[in-house]
This record gives sequence, C-alpha cells and structure tokens, in this order.
Amino acid sequence: FSLKPYNTFGIDVKARLFACFNSVQELQELLQMPELKQEQKLILGGGSNLLFTKDFDGVVLQNGIKGIEIIREDEHHTYVKAGGGEVWHAFVLYTLEHNLGGVENLSLIPGTVGAAPLQNIGAYGVELKDVFYELEAVELESGQTQVFTNEDCRFGYRESVFKNELKGRFIVTSVTFRLHKTHKLNTSYGAIKTTLEEMNITQPTIQDVSAAVCHIRQSKLPDPKQIGNAGSFFKNPEIPIILYDILKEQYPEMPAYPVSELTVKVPAGWLIEQCGWKGKVIENYGVHKNQALVLVNYGGASGDKVRQLAFDIIQSVKEKFGISLHPEVNIM
Ligand code: EPU
Repeated sequence: FSLKPYNTFGIDVKARLFACFNSVQELQELLQMPELKQEQKLILGGGSNLLFTKDFDGVVLQNGIKGIEIIREDEHHTYVKAGGGEVWHAFVLYTLEHNLGGVENLSLIPGTVGAAPLQNIGAYGVELKDVFYELEAVELESGQTQVFTNEDCRFGYRESVFKNELKGRFIVTSVTFRLHKTHKLNTSYGAIKTTLEEMNITQPTIQDVSAAVCHIRQSKLPDPKQIGNAGSFFKNPEIPIILYDILKEQYPEMPAYPVSELTVKVPAGWLIEQCGWKGKVIENYGVHKNQALVLVNYGGASGDKVRQLAFDIIQSVKEKFGISLHPEVNIM
C-alpha cells in the first residue's frame, strides 16, 4: 500500500496494511481484530509532520473521525468539540464563521485536529494550548477511551506527553476547544501588523487576522500540494543568554526571542541561512528558498536523502555556532 498520497513530503514508501476508521467504535473494533493485534501501528492524521525513510512493516491507521459541534457555552466562552480526523483549517474556518476567537493565528496550518495537540501546533504568537480544553483518546493496547485535560497533556514548545512518555500509545479521537466570544487579538508578530496595514485595516476582526496570516504563510511557506514538505523541519533552539551574548559579538545581526530569564530562542531559519543552505537544491530535494527552516521534496526524493540533508545541516550549524538543532518533524 503506497503511502505517497498520505504524507505531505510526498515520499514514496509502502505500508503492509492500511485501515481507516470513522468512529471511536470502528477504531475499537479494528484494535480487537486478531489479525491486527500483534501488528506495529502507525497513526496517520494529515501526514504533515513526518518524514518516511523506509517502508512500514505494520498497519497504518488513518483517523477519519469527522464532525464539529458546539457542546457548551458560558458567559465568555464557547466549547467546541471537533473530530480527530477533521482537517485543521476546516476547523479554523468553522470558528471564524461562528465568530469565535482563539485560533485565527493558527490559520492554514496543514494537518488534522487530532494531530494538533501532539506537537502543540503554534504560529504567530499563539499555541494550541492557549485554547485547548480537553481531548478524548483511545489507548491502542486496551481499546479504552481516556480523557486528557490541558494539564494532563503537558504541553511545551512543539511538545506534549504524546511525543514523550505516551508516544505511540494513544489515538486522539476528538479535541474540545475553549474559544472566546469576546476577542483578544494577538497581532504582536510584526508581519501581521504590516500585512493588516497594507490591507488598510485599522480595527481588525478575527477574520482579518486570519486573512493576514493566510497571506503571510502563502508568501513564505511552500504549499505541500505543489512542493513536498512538512513545514518547519527543525525546532527553534533555546540557548543560554550567556552563549547568545558571546555569539552576538561575532554576529551582531543574530535575532533572538526571550524565553526565560536565562534563555532565549534563536530562529533556526536564520542559523541555517547563515550556513549557506537557503535555497540549496540537491538533485530533486533541498532547502526552501523563502524559509530555510523548511526542507522540500521537488518530486521523487527518498526519505533517506532528505534525512541526510537534515544531518548535514545540523552538523554545519553546530560547527559554525556551537548550537544543536533538533528535528521537529517525526522521522520514521
Ligand atoms: N529567518 C531567516 N532566514 C530564514 C527564515 C527565518 O533569517 O530563511 C529569521 C528571520 O530573522 C525571521 C525569523 O527567522 O524574522 C523568524 O522567521 P519566521 O517568522 O518565518 O518564523 P520561524 O521562527 O522560522 C516559527 C515556527 C513556524 C511558524 C512561524 C510563525 C518553529 C519551528 N516554526 O518559524 O511554524 O509558522 O514561527 O510563528 O517554531 C511549523 O511548525 O511547521 C511552522 C511553520
């Protein structure tokens, strides 16, 4: 079974078995099938955050659980529950239609609702955890459902318990969000401000912010439908301020964002660009020309080659700056 249409990098690998489920019950039935019991399992959302490097000897389970509904309201908030298989941006559009604030900055992120909590998706000053209420998941081993609160998920920068202690153990079947009736816009990210100015908007709505975000993303990030990619390939590294101060003497232009009293985050894209990788094309893969943090497959590249490129980038950044980059994408 070819997984090429199921990963945005467009890597052509195969899985031995493939199954799709459209409800919690269907999933539980699949998990009980004797033929599947002993199989290795891989859960697929939109396939937008992984790099396949070899065939998968097991069963790929695709989450097809759909549905978005308002389940509760209070004075300030509306609680919206969405199926794990919903496309993330379709959910964002639903919130905009219902005039509910909180995820407008997360417009156009590829992938599904169910995959979003795994890496606490984030963009333009907002993270999923800011609006996340709870999720329901099914344990692969037992088939039992379990609810995880915001605290249970232990969200961090592109992190959650599901990427760590509970890695590979649960399938997220639905997520409930706590959205705002009164909107608190986050337009702190410079490009949002300038884009809104260019659009001649002085009193932006959440719909305007979403439009600005879509515009920025489309100008910087390659559309996976056109060029294979999985968004940021690396996380932005967090480094001690003392190291930053030393590096700053040598590289006065080096950008950084405060994280804590002792650390700052440096944009990995800047580090990679400084090492000369931006826009680099090797055969049919390379580094995106507008955003050095994104590795691309122009068609037909093997996952191994892309992984090797990632290693070469990590090594050259380490040699030049003494900073270790870590992949954000799951390498399978
Ligand atoms: N930069 C460069 N060269 C580049 C790219 C970036 O010098 O080729 C520098 C510039 O100084 C720029 C700064 O890096 O001002 C920040 O760049 P950008 O705003 O594009 O954001 P980022 O830090 O590179 C992160 C997220 C993105 C998210 C944007 C916007 C991570 C790993 N990536 O990228 O998330 O969209 O911020 O909030 O945190 C993703 O996770 O897949 C993703 C695209």
